[in-house]
Amino acid sequence: VKSIAVLTSGGDSQGMNAAVRSVVRSALYHGLEVHAVQRGYLGLITDDIRPMDLRSVGDIIQRGGTILQTARCKEFMTLEGQQKGAENLRKRGIDGIVVIGGDGSYQGASKLSQQGIRTMALPGTIDNDIPFTDFTIGFDTAVSIVVDAINKLRDTMTSHERASVVEVMGRHCGDIALYAGLASGAEAILVPEVPYDMDRIAARMKENFEHGKRHSIIVVAEGVGKGDDIARELTERTDMDPRVTVLGHIQRGGSPTHNDRILASRLGDYAVRQLLAGDSGKALGIVKGELTATPIDEVIGAKKPFNKELYDLTLRLSQ
Ligand code: F6P
Repeated sequence: VKSIAVLTSGGDSQGMNAAVRSVVRSALYHGLEVHAVQRGYLGLITDDIRPMDLRSVGDIIQRGGTILQTARCKEFMTLEGQQKGAENLRKRGIDGIVVIGGDGSYQGASKLSQQGIRTMALPGTIDNDIPFTDFTIGFDTAVSIVVDAINKLRDTMTSHERASVVEVMGRHCGDIALYAGLASGAEAILVPEVPYDMDRIAARMKENFEHGKRHSIIVVAEGVGKGDDIARELTERTDMDPRVTVLGHIQRGGSPTHNDRILASRLGDYAVRQLLAGDSGKALGIVKGELTATPIDEVIGAKKPFNKELYDLTLRLSQ
């Protein structure tokens, strides 16, 4: 490869900018030309592509969001859209691309690779729902935001001796709820991977209050249901009057943690090195601290295993 492009796609996540910076700087370091595509796959179709230099990615490693902006683009699902996108890259002499995004973005990356563009996909999503990587870029920051919010909720819940239901993002994956719930000492963590028993949760909460507990935090992954519905189920079984907090898109903003910046920097540079080595059609990740490359189609067809060890730990500690 002589010239590559980078784009961000799907829901944004903290650390995407650090990944873009890494791709651009690593490409320039290796003597490649590098371009940015604005608004994900939409920009590929509309030909919104510009050359990047060292300074184009200055002062962004610490910023949330993505300077390349992002979109969920239906048109790229069609063969016509994919051919147009590949053609727009080729006419500029671009023969490789790094796509940063979630599972939807991986489908697009696979299609681009079928169009003969050398493609690398990086896991950029707060959800941590991509298989073949232990962590996705943005997950660590999102978990920190939830933990910080729960710390604050706990102050006021304790003063009023109340229960709090906190609904968090994650789509069909319970990882944000699991990690944030464990790190903030939640009393119950509801994730889509494990059925919950509200009778048991309510009984334990009642008992804990009788034994001097002064607050109660239930973390609900959005993949389980609405925080309001969980609060109602609790109210039906206890005389508690829980308050509901839906953290929403706050979880997707703010400055990335050092973990996300380092993960993004490592993966961005690895993507460039893989393209230089002639590789294509790979999804990159980190497993047990080591960088990994897996065929994109294998990743698309797989389901991320649930961390049962952590979940069981929460059951032992949340009393
Ligand atoms: O995939 C990231 C995510 O934030 C999910 O956790 C959430 O379900 C979804 O995106 C929200 O999508 P939107 O930004 O389109 O409202």
